[in-house]
Amino acid sequence: MNLARVARTPSELREWIDGDVGLVPTMGALHDGHLKLIRLSAAENATTVVSIFVNPLQFNQAEDLEAYPRTFDRDLELASEAGATIIFAPSEETLYPRGFATTVSVAGLTERWEGAVRPGHFTGVTTVVTKLFTIVRPNRAYFGEKDFQQLAVIRRLHTDLDLPGVVVGVPTVREHDGLALSSRNSRLSKKERRLAKIVPTTLFAMRERADRGQTDVGALLAAGHAVLAQEPAVAVDYLAIVDPITLEPVESLARGSVGIIAVRVGETRLIDNLRLRQLL
Ligand code: PAJ
Repeated sequence: MNLARVARTPSELREWIDGDVGLVPTMGALHDGHLKLIRLSAAENATTVVSIFVNPLQFNQAEDLEAYPRTFDRDLELASEAGATIIFAPSEETLYPRGFATTVSVAGLTERWEGAVRPGHFTGVTTVVTKLFTIVRPNRAYFGEKDFQQLAVIRRLHTDLDLPGVVVGVPTVREHDGLALSSRNSRLSKKERRLAKIVPTTLFAMRERADRGQTDVGALLAAGHAVLAQEPAVAVDYLAIVDPITLEPVESLARGSVGIIAVRVGETRLIDNLRLRQLL
């Protein structure tokens, strides 16, 4: 198998780009969720750039940044197999040279949910994503619905700053028991991994009630909390039903309404979401 070429600088990367370009931003430690984004890009573009950069700007805690898994050689193979043609793996000094002083932030949307517990996190994300759009100038850029708030923030950013190409949201890849794939799942002990199943189970139970015609948000949330109560060891940060664009809580279920959840299982924080009513 041919390995993708590894570009360390923007000028190297620009030299190798050919035809339509798909961009898949990642922080590495690739799993099947990332690979789905890469495969989709490879099917739609002549060049697929996968960026691998553990972005220090989006971590709140130095330990989290240090503990983030780094598996470059394996990532290079997996990404290449999935159809990546270029891996963009810049050094920290390349993306944030001495004297770097500019950040990009999205107001409003970033203040609640994940933004409320991780101050500065989304500014780190939107700053690096703006740089990636500017460096790569993609025709299409792929992001997972797994990080639903991140996707909504990036859509806002992309529209507001007239960034190039289109943003493509990709449905969440799940394990057999429904747990969304995440690099954080590897931190769960066996017992915690069993407990974590309650997260997707809660969302699917809410959707089942929505499918059967329940539109009362209070009733849907009560049903979700009743499921969560079966695992008292799982601490709930939030469970809400929101508008897919503004992420404001909705009063009654509407087209596109999304259930969002964040919990802590032991030391590990897990997030997930599910569309409770179709958009169209
Ligand atoms: P990372 O966590 O590596 O995720 C890279 C992309 O993969 C994101 O768009 C994320 O939503 C998507 N993804 C993760 N798990 C998924 C799953 N189970 N199914 C489908 N897609 C999934 O998100 C980031 O990196 C960073 O914040 C980044 C955007 C790269 C900026 O640094």
